[in-house]
Amino acid sequence: MSFIERTQSGHVATITINRADKLNALSAEVIAELAATFAALTFESLGGDPASAVRAVVLTGAGKAFVAGADIAAMATMSSAEAGRFSEAGHALCAAIEAAPYPVIAAVNGFALGGGLELALACDFIFAADTAKVGLPEVTLGVIPGFGGTQRLARRIGVGRARELIFTGRTVTAEEAARIGLVNEVMPAGELMARATACAEKIASAGPLAIAAAKRAMLHGSEAPLGPACELERQAFAALFGSDDQRTGMGAFLAKQKATFSGR
Ligand code: COA
Repeated sequence: MSFIERTQSGHVATITINRADKLNALSAEVIAELAATFAALTFESLGGDPASAVRAVVLTGAGKAFVAGADIAAMATMSSAEAGRFSEAGHALCAAIEAAPYPVIAAVNGFALGGGLELALACDFIFAADTAKVGLPEVTLGVIPGFGGTQRLARRIGVGRARELIFTGRTVTAEEAARIGLVNEVMPAGELMARATACAEKIASAGPLAIAAAKRAMLHGSEAPLGPACELERQAFAALFGSDDQRTGMGAFLAKQKATFSGR
């Protein structure tokens, strides 16, 4: 992997996009490497050794950007068919992150523009450095967001605010992004990784089957009418009973002990 660095401590993996000389712009190669990284994490999480299984991921960028967008130099000469395939690869990556059985926290350390913000929006939630700047400026380049931005931004912050940001292409500060619900928390840049990792560790200490079920229920239920969405939750709730995690979690509470979950 030439553009992706992966480290792991306990059950928490950190993925760093490192193409810093181009502000981590998403070329087809970077997208393919990211997709392969998440596919490997998912495989290890579901079928690998439970002792080293990944239960939460922090995604960040090297240098002064999270990701400054899809690679404009590569896109400039694309045909419509090539652009369609490029968009498909970006969509597949975002869908894989969204469907991963572990939460992914975007630690936005600087610019998250265009495809960079779309990538962050595919993550479960966003922590941002106070120096971060985010936006979907594609219309200023004569195109539109192509990795899910027209859909996921509205679902995250509401359609009115999403329309304003997409139609103007304006970039917002981390502080404004937090105010409109686009990012969960803003913190000094020097604290970003420690706080995102601490949050990931807290998640990783809970029942992994439960976290995966909650993520799945929220993803699939969000587009369904309330009745079927609640039925989805009922089934997922019931399915957890009898698992080692459920017995361990409830047993530990009743014995006034701390639970150590196996993910089975
Ligand atoms: N695609 C390809 N290359 C990019 C890029 C992108 N989205 N964003 C930045 N780069 C490259 C620059 O071309 C430059 O390369 P060079 O050194 O070979 O000239 C390098 O990264 C550094 O960027 P630079 O513009 O010099 O940094 P800056 O600090 O002056 O400005 C930004 C930072 C983010 C404001 C500016 O890079 C920018 O506007 N980027 C494009 C943002 C965008 O429109 N994204 C949406 C794409 S769909």
